[in-house]
Formats: sequence, C-alpha cells, structure tokens
Amino acid sequence: MNEPAGQLLSVRHLQARYGRLQVLWDISLEVCKGEFVALIGANGAGKTTILRAISGVIRPSAGEVTFLGQSIGGMPAHKISRTGLGYITEDLNLFEAMSVQDNLLLGVMTRQDGSPRGEALNEVYQLFPILSQRRRQLAGTLSGGERRMLALGRGLMSHPQLLMVDEPSLGLAPRLVLTVFDALTDLHRRGVTILLVEQNVNHTLSVADKAYVVEHGRMVLQGPSAELLQNEYLREAYLGRR
Ligand SMILES: Nc1ncnc2c1ncn2[C@@H]1O[C@H](COP(=O)(O)OP(=O)(O)OP(=O)(O)O)[C@@H](O)[C@H]1O
Ligand SMILES: [Mg+2]
Repeated sequence: MNEPAGQLLSVRHLQARYGRLQVLWDISLEVCKGEFVALIGANGAGKTTILRAISGVIRPSAGEVTFLGQSIGGMPAHKISRTGLGYITEDLNLFEAMSVQDNLLLGVMTRQDGSPRGEALNEVYQLFPILSQRRRQLAGTLSGGERRMLALGRGLMSHPQLLMVDEPSLGLAPRLVLTVFDALTDLHRRGVTILLVEQNVNHTLSVADKAYVVEHGRMVLQGPSAELLQNEYLREAYLGRR
C-alpha cells in the first residue's frame, strides 16, 4: 500500500459498535511520525471507543486501521501492542499491590528493540524523578498524579512508536494537570509520537500540533491547533467564549 511519507497511523472510515449499539460512524484520522495529535469531544462522544478500536480492545465493525504500513484492523490487542503501539487506558491498569519499579518492569515485556531493562528504567526515572524516589512504594499507595506518571512511565518502557493516552488529566488538581501536560510535552520533545484523548480543550490545544473534534461518534472538525483555537464553533461549544 502507498502511504504518505512519515505516516504512522491511518484510520479510514472506522465504525464500531457495542452489541447492537453503533457508537462510531465514519471516523478517519492520521498521525505522522513525531506528531502530537489530540482527540477532543464531550463525555460519551466516542473518544475512548476510537482508541479501543485502534488498539484491538474492541473489533471495528467497518473501516481500515493501518499502523506502520500494516493493516491492523481486527487484530487482537496483544498482537497490536507488539507492533509498537502503546495504549494507556483511562483506568491506568496499575498493579496496586506491586511496587512502582515492578509495575515499570512489567511494561518492558513487550519492548521492541531488545535493549537492556535497566536502561529503560533509567530513562523513565530521569523523565519522572518522583517515580525514582518512590520506586519501592506500592503502586496502590501513590497519589492521583503519581499514578498517572507511573502509567505514562510504564507505557514508555516498551519504547512504543506511537503512544495513545486516554484522559491523563482526569480528576487531577489544576497543579497536577499542568504536571501531566508538561510531561507529555517533554515526551513529545524527546521524539515520542502521541495521540492524546482529552476533555481539557484549552490545555490540549496549547500543546498538540493538530486536533480532531468528535461529536456523537463522528468527526466534526479537524485542523492545526492554532487554527482550531480561532474557530468560532469550537470556541463557543468547548471553550465557552466568543
Ligand atoms: N462497554 C460498553 N458497552 C456499551 N456501551 C458503551 C460501552 N462503552 C462505551 N459505551 C457507550 O459508547 C458511547 C461512547 O463512549 P466512549 O467511552 O467512547 O466516550 P468518550 O468520548 O470516551 O467519553 P468520556 O469523555 O466520558 O470518557 C457512550 O454512549 C457510551 O455509553
Ligand atoms: Mg473516554
């Protein structure tokens, strides 16, 4: 297949359903290498379902998903994660009764390039010094912000080609929201390609290169973040200003 240079992920006319209930209709999006792309939209719009359908957690009912030139639509999640696609879910999936470090080491089991685990750990500790300080603490006893850092760190241990992150700022105090967005910006600067789902539209558009807006399972708007920030509809509907 002929894909544009630098294209990492391409989703074409994706549809998905839960049982008889169709929730995604004709979703198309593109992520290029090195890009920071955001998916925004209200509660229930279908953002998480898009990530689930891309990552293989649910099977798309129609459409194509291409990752690194390979068709992955309909492949099981464990195979898709081995292709280099990382997915940090809304509920984080931490192992609460295990230490911070053991949680991180679990993330390395799917590492692509075979480099030593110690090196991966050091990279993550450098990025999130708080995790290094807490390396022996049980994951279940971390604060909300620390848990999100741990989930991000674990997602990075396998050096994914693309990191999909679902609402990392959910439920955090404003100061921690900033910390999480700083961490994402830092990751992006280090060359990680990111597909971020967020409801925090203001923050998201200030860090993402481009964004897609989802409403009722359909893409209604897309473009560079700077343009969307000027878009009248988006400003009224999502930022509450004219
Ligand atoms: N497992 C499920 N079974 C049935 N319906 C579901 C399931 N998961 C999600 N839905 C429905 O699909 C629609 C889209 O849900 P989704 O979780 O993708 O929305 P979202 O945009 O991520 O919302 P939020 O911002 O609240 O996380 C919603 O109407 C939701 O009720
Ligand atoms: Mg969601």
